Amino acid sequence: MNNSDVQAVILAAGKGTRMESDLPKVLHQINSKPMLGHVLEMVRSVGLSRSFVVVGHKAELVSKFSDADDVTSVLQEPQLGTGHAVQVTVPVLKAGGYTIILCGDVPLLKSETVSTLIEKTKSAGVSASVLTCVVENAGSYGRIVKDADGNFKAIVEARDATAEQIAIGEYNSGVFCFKTDDMIEALAELKSDNDQSEYYLTDTIAYLVGEGRNVQAVAIDDPVQVMGINTVAELAEAEKYFLERS
Ligand code: UD1
Ligand code: CA
Repeated sequence: MNNSDVQAVILAAGKGTRMESDLPKVLHQINSKPMLGHVLEMVRSVGLSRSFVVVGHKAELVSKFSDADDVTSVLQEPQLGTGHAVQVTVPVLKAGGYTIILCGDVPLLKSETVSTLIEKTKSAGVSASVLTCVVENAGSYGRIVKDADGNFKAIVEARDATAEQIAIGEYNSGVFCFKTDDMIEALAELKSDNDQSEYYLTDTIAYLVGEGRNVQAVAIDDPVQVMGINTVAELAEAEKYFLERS
């Protein structure tokens, strides 16, 4: 599959408060390589046109690590949420085609998974696909809310969810594939009326659904690949999984 019509945005501006360290979260290492390095290596093997890394907290250090011929860093200052992080890349994005969103703190994702997500987005002709996973208890992850017919309606953050929504086992991995133009349209409509007063990328889904556009959830059965690292304990766990599978 030719992915020269696909660009990537990698979110890496967050502070990572729970790592209890001065080092930016995405530069913490798994098997002697920063988490962001694992993500960049993975993205390169998918063969995309270009990658943009959104930097903010300790921006200089993260930019220095990421900048390359095929990677540009974009400054997000201040950091007003995942939706805002993608908004700051809009001026440098190429219109048309597809944009995948990845997170610098989700280091174990495989290139096959991203290729499949892109392929399924193209073949279904949808505005957006969200990579999801189903577990018994989805903890602090955003919940995938569907209607009675199984149509994808919205992503609701755990902290904004009702008790009924909290019981949903399908969660947002933070990895998306959008038609670029639809994503840009939806980003312009984001509001920060939530518990954290942030601009959530996840709200683009409810917007697109409201506009009658098709979105889909693409579930994977391997929660390890979509582990988001927020603490030193999770970093150690991810390294253990990495060593086991390599
Ligand atoms: C996010 C999703 C959640 C999902 C989870 C998966 C939103 C609102 N929530 O939650 O649905 O289940 O990821 O791991 O999107 N970042 C920036 N700039 C910002 C804020 C964040 O670049 O202003 C980056 C962070 O560095 C990180 C990524 O975006 O790499 C995710 O941000 P984080 O705050 O960890 O989001 P979660 O609360 O985990
Ligand atoms: Ca996170």
